[in-house]
Order: sequence, then C-alpha cells, then structure tokens
Amino acid sequence: MKFIIDQQVEDIELPENLKLNTFLQEFHSDCPHPECSFGFYGYAFGQSPFHVPRLVQKALVDNAHKGQYAAVPGVEELREAISEYNKYYFHMDVDPDRIYVGPGTKELIYNLLEILHGTVILPTPAWLGYLPQIRFLKKNYHMLPAGVDKKINPQDLEKLALRLHDRQKILIFNNPNNPTGLVYSKKELEVIVEVCREQNIIVIADEIYAQTTYEFENFVSMGKIYPEGTFVTNGLSKSHAAGGYRLGYVIFPQHSVDVRRQFKKIVATEYTAVTTPIQHAAVAGFQISKEMDEYFQITRKIHEIMGEYVYEKLHEISGVTSTKPQATFYLLADFNRFTPEFNASKIPTSQKFSETLIQHPYHTAIVGGDSLVLERTDFSARLAFVDYDGKKAYDAFRDDFPKSHSDKLEFVKTNAPKVVSGLKMIETYFDHLLQNAESKIDCDFSSLSVVN
Ligand SMILES: Cc1ncc(COP(=O)(O)O)c(C=O)c1O
Repeated sequence: MKFIIDQQVEDIELPENLKLNTFLQEFHSDCPHPECSFGFYGYAFGQSPFHVPRLVQKALVDNAHKGQYAAVPGVEELREAISEYNKYYFHMDVDPDRIYVGPGTKELIYNLLEILHGTVILPTPAWLGYLPQIRFLKKNYHMLPAGVDKKINPQDLEKLALRLHDRQKILIFNNPNNPTGLVYSKKELEVIVEVCREQNIIVIADEIYAQTTYEFENFVSMGKIYPEGTFVTNGLSKSHAAGGYRLGYVIFPQHSVDVRRQFKKIVATEYTAVTTPIQHAAVAGFQISKEMDEYFQITRKIHEIMGEYVYEKLHEISGVTSTKPQATFYLLADFNRFTPEFNASKIPTSQKFSETLIQHPYHTAIVGGDSLVLERTDFSARLAFVDYDGKKAYDAFRDDFPKSHSDKLEFVKTNAPKVVSGLKMIETYFDHLLQNAESKIDCDFSSLSVVN
C-alpha cells in the first residue's frame, strides 16, 4: 500500500531536536570504534537531570484511577494551585479563570500562534522549538538578532516593528533564556514593554525556566510588567524535572475573555484536555509546600554550581567566551575566534562543527548555532550542563552543601564526572584544531578518560 502524505507535511523539515536525536543514533550505530559503545558527553539535550519530586509521583499514583475526561481548561483544583503558585513565587495575582492547562508549553505556544493574528517577531538566538511551529502555521515572521549583550535591543525591536504593517505583532519572549541562560532585569523588561505598548506588540512570554533563576528574587515575570498584553507560559518540565508528564499552563492577559473563548475551541478540537491523573499530580507540584520549596532551592543551586563550573572551564580555553548563566542549565559559548581554523579544516558551518565534535575521538554532543536560529557560519553553540545523576547530586547537596569555591569544584568532580571530562574533550578538540588538524584526526584514544 502506498500512502500519500499531505504536501504541507512533506514540506516540513524535521524539527531540530529530532534531527539531533537521529544524528546521534546514526552516528552511534555507524561508528566502528569499540569506544563508541561509551556513548557521548551530553551537552546537547535540554532535560533536567533531577528526579520528579516525590510528592508529585505519589499524587500521580494516588490518582491513577481517575479515568474521566477533565474540563477543557483544566481541573479546577489545579488552576487554583497554579494561581497560588504564581502569587507565592512570582507575586502575580491571577484569577484561575485566566489559566488554561495544556499538554506542555510547546503545544500551548502552538495553540496561541494558531489563534493570534499578526507577524511573529522571533529574537535570536532562540530555542529550537519555535521556528518549525511558525513555519508550519505559515505565519509571517521576522528574526530579531540579539545585541552584543545577547539580549533584545529595544531600539532594534522598535525599528523592526515600524517596518511591519500588521495591526498586531507577536513577540516570542523567552526569559530566562534558552540558550543563553540570561535573565532580564525589571528595568530591561519595562523598556521592552514601552516599545510593545507603542507598537501594538503582544507577547508570548515563555517563562518555563523562571523557577531555575539562581538569584531567584531577580526574576520578574513579563506578566507583571505588561499584564494587558502578555500570555505567560510555564509548566512542570524544567522546574519539576517532569518534561515527560507533558503539563504546561498559560496565563492569559487581563481582560481576555473573548480570546479564551476562541482558545477553548482550539483546545477542545485538538486534544480535549490534559490527562486527568497528571493534572492531579501537578496539583501537588504547584501547591505551596516545604518539600517543593526545598526541591526548588536545591535544584537551582546545583544548576548554578554546574553553570559556574562550565563557564569557568570554557574560559580557560584561550579565545573562547560565553554567556554567564543566571538561570536555566544552558550557556551560549562563542567559538568564532576559531573561524580561520574551522575553515582551514573544512568545517564551514556550525552544523559541521557539532558533527565533528560528536565523532570519535571526541564523543561530545552540543547544539550548534544553526540549530539556535543563528547564521550557519556562526560558530556559537549551546552547552547544556545536565549530564549527571541528578538524584545522587541532590542527595549529596542536601547532606552537605558546598560552601567555598573549592567545595563547589569538588562537588562537580564527584557528582558530575562526565561534565568535567567532556569539557576536557572540548579543549582537546580545539588543541587539535589549532594544530591545523582535519576534522577526523585519528588521535590516540588512550588519552581519553571514558566515564560511564
Ligand atoms: C525555551 C523552552 N520553551 C519550551 C520548552 C518546552 O516545554 P514543554 O515541555 O512544557 O513543552 C522548552 C523545552 O526544552 C524550552 O527550552
């Protein structure tokens, strides 16, 4: 039987995260070296390494018998818990009516893009999830490249908006940011919002990393500064290490009854509601409790320690710079200083760079610039610092938390050996590159410390 696939689907490129997955698997099965059974130093996948909080797991088990469909916007108890959560952690007063629950924020962002009219403004570098959605929906879009500080420049935003003639524009604003790990200050938000108000720009504020902000009091939600024009999205995936639960929520702007009505139609048409037991599990994750608070504090502290380590070690490689993460488990490294050597070694693009780094003998997976919606020749890359046993690190931290700088170094060496070895591998890669090596130098593998 030959099935005919709709042309619109045929035309979609494989989303970057799937591409990366496929590439890693293919590389793996093709690699003839016995050392390839080791796998790789994983700086590519953006998944929290921690365990799902125990009380969330327990609530899931306790509610496993609930087989009925939930109400389209989400179960009442959960929307109330999310409202409390936003009041307690983000100082926002949100009526539960303004909250819709969905199967992950990725889907919710897609649903919002489905109903909202207007050209999309996509600041870059960006998370690799947005662009395929925008393209699939055939929406007009414009990139907004970051300034030297790797953040949105409000003047650039204004200039771009002035060129667009839509009555309404949609800014996708990801704060804290994937891939840079940076956090916008209240002042910075206010200046951006001034432009949004003047230029009729509404905001989809993807705040999925809000709870990971290292100095937590520094995080300010866009929903607080621009409540009449912001759709805030957040969920369980990063803060509760539960991406696989597929639960996110959107807070609609003030005075958005009609938008919600339209949104409800889309949700009811596409997925009816989120899995009922998962919603009940999420209640435990969003309700204010000592256990959850401790979980957030410890996990964000460990992310900070790992981030500091990766930042420091990268800067020890001559010529490499990076953002200094203030949240998330990412930083954006800049390897452009090596452009001449890349070119001499027939590595013309960041895609090729990430391919050569995954190959034997380096075995190191990163996300290259072109998967971050940067120019193909921009040798920037995202490094995620999550390749360690999160539960072990969590317990070790709780037993005896590292205080001094040397305690923290020791903590990383003991609890995240692959993060340590992978950085050495990146250094080795650049040593070889500088020696005018070809991308596939077959160096002595015995110098490699393989950690399983
Ligand atoms: C910036 C950003 N937004 C959204 C998501 C998706 O989150 P969810 O699991 O809620 O769909 C991710 C996941 O990596 C992300 O990095």
